[in-house]
Amino acid sequence: MLSPVEIGVLGATGPAGTGIAARLAAIGHNVVAGSRERSRADAVVATLREKWDARVDGLRAGTNDDAAAAQDLVIVATTWEGAVDTAAAHASALAGKVVASMANGLEKVGHEFRPVLPEAGSLAEAVQAAAPAARVASAFHMIPAATFGNLDEEMDSDVVVCSDDDVARDLVIDLVSSIPNLGAFDGGSLANSVGLEAFTAVLLTVNLRHKGSATLRLAGVDRRSPR
Ligand SMILES: NC(=O)c1ccc[n+]([C@@H]2O[C@H](COP(=O)([O-])OP(=O)(O)OC[C@H]3O[C@@H](n4cnc5c(N)ncnc54)[C@H](OP(=O)(O)O)[C@@H]3O)[C@@H](O)[C@H]2O)c1
Repeated sequence: MLSPVEIGVLGATGPAGTGIAARLAAIGHNVVAGSRERSRADAVVATLREKWDARVDGLRAGTNDDAAAAQDLVIVATTWEGAVDTAAAHASALAGKVVASMANGLEKVGHEFRPVLPEAGSLAEAVQAAAPAARVASAFHMIPAATFGNLDEEMDSDVVVCSDDDVARDLVIDLVSSIPNLGAFDGGSLANSVGLEAFTAVLLTVNLRHKGSATLRLAGVDRRSPR
């Protein structure tokens, strides 16, 4: 099992960043919840402390600079529109570091969601291009923020991780596996992140049209064990 690591979350003031920061702190990781504006991170962390008390002891507020300086891993949880610029703005702090991109480019058209993909192919590849010395993996695309954020709710999903860097792939798979009842799967190179990002639009459309909250579960394959 993964020992506690220090994780920074860029854009931790939105539902996804807040949820993942709380969940990771609750299982013993040290998490820096980052924002472009320190006061917004302070407010989010204060709310989480009020709600979850000692369960989020490992969480502290910071700026995105503080989050990018986290020792072991940095999660990009900004809006998808801001993900690439944020990676570029912190490229030197992210150099050599494992970076997990969870961004999905989406637009709502009528009664469905459609993927919005950058020229690079996927947002994860665009994040990698913006921070070329970072060890980028993509993950967590299809986990609803609310599930991450409700610490009383057991997670019930699989996460496919894509990366061109074995160190990044292994660490992110170990991180996913450190969250009870999340399955981790190796989805190959970062180029394959396009499939995850685009499929998220389909999954959200299914949820919209079926009034559901489906997430991803893979059948017929064993999840990857942590190292
Ligand atoms: N919501 C979900 O259920 C879910 C699930 C899986 C993946 N995702 C992905 O996770 C990411 C975050 O989702 P979310 O719903 O939490 O998004 P969100 O609430 O719209 O935004 C997250 C944070 O991004 C920061 N931000 C906004 N505009 C920015 C910009 N131009 N540049 C840099 N930072 C900016 C803001 O933080 P500050 O103003 O405090 O800096 C904001 O609180 C998205 O890329 C989304 O595709 C979401």
